[in-house]
Amino acid sequence: MAGDGLDAIFSPASIAIVGASRHIGKIGYEIVKNLLANGYRGSIYPINPKTDEVLGVKAYPSVAAVPGPIDLAVIVVPAAYALPAVEECGKKGVRGLVVITAGFREIGGAGLERERELLGLCKAYGMTMIGPNCMGVINTHPDVAMDATFAPTPPLRGHVSLVTQSGALGVAILEHAKSLGIGFAKFCSLGNKAQVSLNDLLQAWGDDPETKIIVAYIENFGNPKNFVRIAREVTKKKPVIAVKAGRSEAGGRATASHTGSLGGSDLAAEAVFNQTGVLRANAIEELFDYASAFSLGTLPKGNRVAVISDAGGPAIMAVDELSAQGLILSEFTQATKASLKSWAPPDASMANPIDLTPEGSLEDYRRALAAVLEDENVDAAIAVYVPPVRTDEVEWARVVWTTAQKHKKPVLCNFLGRTEDSPGFLELVSHGLPSYLYPESAARSLAALYRYAQYLKRDEGRTRTFEVSRARAGTILDTVLGESRTRLTEIESVEFLEAYGIQTARARMCKDIDEAAVVARQLGYPVVLKAVGRQLVHKTEQGAVVLDIRDERALRLEAMRLHHRMETQGIAIDGILVQEHFSRGKEVILGMTRDHVYGPFLVFGLGGIYVEYLKDVSFGLPPLTDQDAYRMIRAIRTYPLLTGVRGEPPRDIDALAEAILRFAQLVLDFDQIQEIDLNPIIALEEGKGYRAVDARIILTPPDSERT
Ligand code: COA
Repeated sequence: MAGDGLDAIFSPASIAIVGASRHIGKIGYEIVKNLLANGYRGSIYPINPKTDEVLGVKAYPSVAAVPGPIDLAVIVVPAAYALPAVEECGKKGVRGLVVITAGFREIGGAGLERERELLGLCKAYGMTMIGPNCMGVINTHPDVAMDATFAPTPPLRGHVSLVTQSGALGVAILEHAKSLGIGFAKFCSLGNKAQVSLNDLLQAWGDDPETKIIVAYIENFGNPKNFVRIAREVTKKKPVIAVKAGRSEAGGRATASHTGSLGGSDLAAEAVFNQTGVLRANAIEELFDYASAFSLGTLPKGNRVAVISDAGGPAIMAVDELSAQGLILSEFTQATKASLKSWAPPDASMANPIDLTPEGSLEDYRRALAAVLEDENVDAAIAVYVPPVRTDEVEWARVVWTTAQKHKKPVLCNFLGRTEDSPGFLELVSHGLPSYLYPESAARSLAALYRYAQYLKRDEGRTRTFEVSRARAGTILDTVLGESRTRLTEIESVEFLEAYGIQTARARMCKDIDEAAVVARQLGYPVVLKAVGRQLVHKTEQGAVVLDIRDERALRLEAMRLHHRMETQGIAIDGILVQEHFSRGKEVILGMTRDHVYGPFLVFGLGGIYVEYLKDVSFGLPPLTDQDAYRMIRAIRTYPLLTGVRGEPPRDIDALAEAILRFAQLVLDFDQIQEIDLNPIIALEEGKGYRAVDARIILTPPDSERT
């Protein structure tokens, strides 16, 4: 929707500033000042009924009074005057609006209505709007040269574009980025996002040739599904780095299910990032670190890194962080080793990480860096440098960037203790080499480059739709809700899952011990006995499950004991379930919970009773591709247990991946479902599938608002 209008906002031929002020310090003054100071190439029309000029530019009493067309209007009049001003813009044929004015949805009450009316005007007159309650927009392209913000310092020109949901933070980012030498193509403060959203900008900037890296400060995704769809496309074209606020939401909601207690919006956000290839920075500082690394424009071909330093300590710190991030130290070729050895300073250690010691000369540093960058076993290098007193830091910086420039491999520097105002740092960044205050930051940023390089190679896979009995499954849910229940019984759960082709252990409900004995004979021993009743939630803890019953004698005995245990706890039961027993499998969990923002999201992980404690899980936001399903399986720490360790046979990972996809289809088909726990699912040997042996399916009561 926003394509055309965004053009009017980011590349306007003329701008009206409605509320342009004569008074220094007022926002309406600062915006005109910034437009002038940055040499905006189009026409500027200050609008102010009380004056003929603002900062020497002819002012007009109203938008209607402007003689020529207006592409963009920046609204900086108080909220009470904003709507008539916007209407006037509509009548004039203005195409784009940036509404700086606050006093809309963010204040609630009358502000909500005002925002609705504002949006109504935009729609009625076909205007595209950023804001309200925003900081403004910037386009540094020399043909436009527009700084329509009230930020105190203009950004450097460059190829990073920044979209922020916090105006104040946006300004801080622009300022700090400038000191780090990071330049911007475009900047947009979204404000209340009444119309133009993060997703619109992502889409537009995905196709913007001036934007090589997109950086986002995100508070919420608005429409996460659209975000996933758009981000997936954009990240294939250029890196998107994001900081997402709201980590502490995780686990904030109390819930009885395993999946629910593992969930929380931030984990869903994590799934969104993983699925889309958006690189998540953990802090604003990391956002800059990554942005500097990506400004290199070179990605490592693999994960083998050389570390060169003139001091052992920081080099080890870099190595530790590299390995924590899944990168490895290169094993140099014989030729490199021989060449390094031939000239090594007396006390230097020339194995990776190379420590030239403070005795190493600049020429030694140059030769070492050149040698490792020429080595075919090296994909990237980290140059650590603790400036010794006798060497000029600018000289060192020059040696590093001139050497690095001769090779197409990323080189990231750790200029220990040197910040953005030191001459060596400036020498590096002004020649396109990122430099970090600490070795770990360099290592983490290199890892981000590697992750992105891997992501670009990754197969996104395809979505699959399975033939299922949707109607049958729907009938089961209708029955449950019709009886004013929200939880499916064991047998209903089995039928429901089977309607979607999810493999469950065969089971039957029995009313007494004799019937249980008959059923056990039919199913074949060993079997499992389970007490079934509404009060049973975590059955193991309540003593309601007996596993691995091998013959009828044991069955009768255990069934009696089971009845007795339930009686003594005062738990009423509806009967006993007899189920096939699987002894030689690995237990996994597949679950889903419905988030109020993200909708249903899936959890896969190591199953059993320790799920909440071990938290070895991965998340997925449906719809999923087949590769997403495999990635969810591979993402858990205990994945090697599924591929087979210590001589154990591998599990049926293909079947598990299919289970995840069928499950995703199921949860998308029924928005009555609030939560599902399939825990455990027994993952059988390769080719034998899996069996869901316990299911907990909870529906949302029809009269309650879905969360
Ligand atoms: N059309 C054009 N100009 C008008 C006008 C109208 N209908 N009504 C008033 N003006 C003029 C005023 O005369 C004034 O100019 P002057 O200083 O030369 O007299 C100028 O517009 C600004 O109006 P003023 O009443 O002084 O407003 P203000 O500057 O105090 O506040 C806002 C205006 C928009 C800045 C303020 O209402 C606001 O919303 N502030 C918060 C902004 C914000 O934080 N945004 C989010 C950032 S992340």
